[in-house]
Amino acid sequence: MGLRDLFFPPLTILKYFLVCSGVLGSLESDGGWLTSGHASLLEEDSCTVERRDASLTYSQFIEQYAFSRPVILQGITNNTEFQACCTKEKLSARFGDHLVRLSTANTYSYRKVDLPFQDYVDQLLEPQDRASLGSETLYFFGDNNFTEWGPLFQKYRPPPFRLPGTTGAYSFGIAGSGSGVPFHWHGPGYSEVIFGRKRWFLYPPEKTPEFHPNKTTLSWLLDTYPFLPPWERPVECTVHPGEVLYFPDRWWHATLNLDTSVFISTFLG
Ligand SMILES: *[C@@H]1O[C@H](CO)[C@@H](O)[C@H](O)[C@H]1NC(C)=O
Ligand SMILES: *[C@@H]1O[C@H](CO)[C@@H](O)[C@H](O)[C@H]1NC(C)=O
Ligand SMILES: *[C@@H]1O[C@H](CO)[C@@H](O)[C@H](O)[C@H]1NC(C)=O
Repeated sequence: MGLRDLFFPPLTILKYFLVCSGVLGSLESDGGWLTSGHASLLEEDSCTVERRDASLTYSQFIEQYAFSRPVILQGITNNTEFQACCTKEKLSARFGDHLVRLSTANTYSYRKVDLPFQDYVDQLLEPQDRASLGSETLYFFGDNNFTEWGPLFQKYRPPPFRLPGTTGAYSFGIAGSGSGVPFHWHGPGYSEVIFGRKRWFLYPPEKTPEFHPNKTTLSWLLDTYPFLPPWERPVECTVHPGEVLYFPDRWWHATLNLDTSVFISTFLG
């Protein structure tokens, strides 16, 4: 049994295979997602999360990060084929008429709305309005119908390092620039960016951040972050395509998509 089978046991429910010809040559390509005419947010260059390359061994990962701090792993997965399946054109053609389940982008209460994927792409995938509440912003992440999206997820190569006694569960999402999920925490996992850039803000479990659960990450960044004293600042970094961020169990985190982004998490539970 391969690694992929561990992550994705119900192969029998997959009714069809997905073929994405023309693998993209470059990880810089935007897959058609950024060409909608709006500027992406400026990126803050600072990064206080360690970055490690593919020379990191499994035992180093377990000793140095798995139970203690986040890390960004570079070049540890090769998802060029999955990326080629996730262009705007390919996903629209394949899933445009499928319903997707959207959640409000706040911390505790999740209102769910079902909408055809193409309507989400055409109508809701716009830059986050600074004044909108997270509890009024609809976000496509998780709640994926694995029967319908299974053939796509089968193309995903998850990070190879697993935690003892856990299996992985995928959550896939696409969201507009300036969108994101405000501070919350849960079990450990990985988040990989397929297109776009995603900025992460993290705090260790014992350091509850100052935030309003219904406000967006964008409004936290603009209204709260600038006034934090240096010792209250989060651990933060921007994750690019080809990179995977690992977050340990119960670490607080908030995310901000700097561009229209396509991303997938592997939750370890
Ligand atoms: C990644 O995989 C693709 C095929 O899916 C292959 O063409 C490419 O050479 C691989 N890249 C690296 C860096 O291994
Ligand atoms: C998932 O998709 C299948 C196939 O279209 C459908 O029969 C099923 O009701 C969907 N499940 C949910 C929870 O929406
Ligand atoms: C957040 O929004 C939800 C849903 O609109 C509401 O029920 C809740 O009271 C709000 N929480 C706070 C702290 O404002």
